[in-house]
Amino acid sequence: MLSPSDASPMIDFTTLPHPNPVTPAERAARIADPGFGKVFTDHMAVVRYSEGKGWYDAQIGPRGTFALDPSAAVLHYAQEIFEGLKAYRHPDGRIALFRADANAARLVASAGRMAMAPVLPPIFLEAVRRIVAIDRDWMPSVPGGTIYLRPFQIATEVFLGVKPSTDYIFGVIASAVGDYFKGETRGVSLWVSKDYTRAAPGGTGAAKCGGNYAASLIALGDATKRGFDQVLFLDAVERRWIEELGGMNIFFVFDDGSLLTPPLTGTILPGITRDTIIKLARAHGLAVREEPYAIDQARADAESGRLVEAFACGTAAVVAPIASMSMDDGSFTIGSGGMGQTTARLRKALVDIQFGHAPDEHGWISYVD
Ligand code: PLP
Ligand code: COI
Repeated sequence: MLSPSDASPMIDFTTLPHPNPVTPAERAARIADPGFGKVFTDHMAVVRYSEGKGWYDAQIGPRGTFALDPSAAVLHYAQEIFEGLKAYRHPDGRIALFRADANAARLVASAGRMAMAPVLPPIFLEAVRRIVAIDRDWMPSVPGGTIYLRPFQIATEVFLGVKPSTDYIFGVIASAVGDYFKGETRGVSLWVSKDYTRAAPGGTGAAKCGGNYAASLIALGDATKRGFDQVLFLDAVERRWIEELGGMNIFFVFDDGSLLTPPLTGTILPGITRDTIIKLARAHGLAVREEPYAIDQARADAESGRLVEAFACGTAAVVAPIASMSMDDGSFTIGSGGMGQTTARLRKALVDIQFGHAPDEHGWISYVD
């Protein structure tokens, strides 16, 4: 298996002409109010891998379906990983990516955990840049509108024995998106899952693999049936320590202005937004602890007034205030149940850099052309 430092770091991409792209009028109609993850752009990137040959046949072409052999390893043993990042239009018209190198590195880390051949970061970055450049007209002009990139990697070896695949496809698709949660300042309500956990020590919680999301869906179903927006997962051993949501990390803000977020012990996703918020909060002079926090303690702290805000964060959700947490034995509201001051301040600091309204002092922005 190749490691990221092996082999030629870059391969040539071929661009295939699109015979039938969406018309400008139809595109404008689709991106007028895109929501999240429903409106796809015209193109996709596809790169293939075979053991012994490395990554080859890199193409930017019309978005379309894949033909997969029914015994392809991904369909049976779930060797599948993905990423999520966004492209932003800056005031000068240029299109920017935010910390794309961190996404490339996380895909490599996920591949390591899932015994998959790593996509070399230069190939990841080139595929992402080329898709954004070719589909830049899909950028929605709604407030907060972005192009959401979904790089993914699947195992395609035709073999039913259980072992790491020798063949892979790496792809990048793109979607014009608006808000993940409608009404960005509304607080989201969480159902605390006591019946189901997302990831156990030694498992795949820190990898961005599809299986983690499949495992979370029954708990999300429980939450939505009860009228809540999202699930909050607790640790798998004691069912006590707060971990993360199905697709977002979590932060707590206390009355002394300090923040707390659960530590990266291998069971939660090392979110790039999480890391960014920690750095921004510290740059604003706020103390941030990466420490375990028990659900009972959160309840006691919310009731005593010590816990004043909580928020979820991730690429898709950005920074979303958490209004309340509910479980079988009751509910509690956090602060005012809406957007708190610290949450709003950190959200603004983040999106101002992403959209080019504030200087990029950390070297997080790169331009696609
Ligand atoms: N946790 C999970 C389970 C996620 O799916 C995501 C989304 O990608 C996050 C956290 C946040 O990660 P990031 O900030 O890198 O998008
Ligand atoms: C992302 O934020 O990029 C994710 O993958 C999470 C998912 C809820 C869309």
